[in-house]
Amino acid sequence: MNGLPRQVKIVDVGPRDGLQNEPKSVPTAVKIELVERLAEAGIPAVEAAAFVSPKWVPQMADGAEVMRGLARKPGVSYPVLVPNMQGFEAAIAAGADEVAVFGAASETFSQKNINCSIAESLDRFAPVVEAARERGVKVRGYISCVAGCPYEGEVKPKAVAEVARRLFAMGCYEISLGDTIGVGTPGKVRDMIEAVARDVPIKKMAVHFHDTYGQALANIYAALEQGVNVVDSSVAGLGGCPYAKGASGNVATEDVVYMLDGLGIETGVDLERIFETGRFICGELGREAASKVHRALAAKRK
Ligand code: HMG
Ligand code: MG
Repeated sequence: MNGLPRQVKIVDVGPRDGLQNEPKSVPTAVKIELVERLAEAGIPAVEAAAFVSPKWVPQMADGAEVMRGLARKPGVSYPVLVPNMQGFEAAIAAGADEVAVFGAASETFSQKNINCSIAESLDRFAPVVEAARERGVKVRGYISCVAGCPYEGEVKPKAVAEVARRLFAMGCYEISLGDTIGVGTPGKVRDMIEAVARDVPIKKMAVHFHDTYGQALANIYAALEQGVNVVDSSVAGLGGCPYAKGASGNVATEDVVYMLDGLGIETGVDLERIFETGRFICGELGREAASKVHRALAAKRK
């Protein structure tokens, strides 16, 4: 159908990208239950934690406890964020078997988020990827600000492509293209993916849209038309980035699954169970789900 993929892998980043931005601290047991429920709902990859400085992101300080407490479902991967060797070693000690390094296409964002330049970040990631390879641990590579930067404004596709090329050459098995502040529109996203595709095969890309301007589903559709078949999302649309003020949550997993179900694209994810998981975490956080599909399903039940 229109060259759309038959299957899409959904990576739910809610327990990390979502909870890292919640003002209310979330008990470790709730985080663990969230990760387990997502896996039970059929999500094949659940981003479970971040091994970053607790001074920078206190919400993720209990990453080791989350990883140790988790009942893992066979076949599901549980990647965790690591910014450097210190994070990598802590992640491995806690039993992580997949990690993600995270860079940016914008210099200022790189400084604000990880306190170093883009070049320095790549130098820090190289030994992480190397150490991971030695242990047979897969590494995902994120790039932030692929469609715009909260500090610098426009970001050129060429800048994204250059970081993608480096991360892929280093050995990242998948490059997740992050529209951190949700400013992208389908034409812009298409140009960016086209630029990245000169160095990274489309099948090695993932798209990671925040929904600040309500463009995420349209952007995902544009990416699917180009052949991308890995989509990051967050249950109930939780999320944001502490170093990108005003950015709203990731596109909601409920919304993505509803669209993909409608297109006849297989995900293996059970919409009903994702909805229930969204209800669970929103109840814990005392907030509304930022998902239209969630609200529609909730209204239907009343
Ligand atoms: P720094 O201050 O430059 O680090 O921060 P440092 O190496 O100079 O060390 C300073 C202190 O941090 C030391 O502790 C280290 O031990 C500690 P002290 O001696 O002062 O007590 N430290 C660590 N502690 C725990 N785990 C570590 C670690 N590394 C150093 N791994 C650093 C540099 C990268 C650590 C810091 O800037 C940081 O943690 N940044 C993380 C920011 C973050 O997590 N942002 C959100 C995730 S990115 C995102 O959301 C975007 C994404 O979703 C895609 C998208 O949407 O675009 C992925
Ligand atoms: Mg994000």
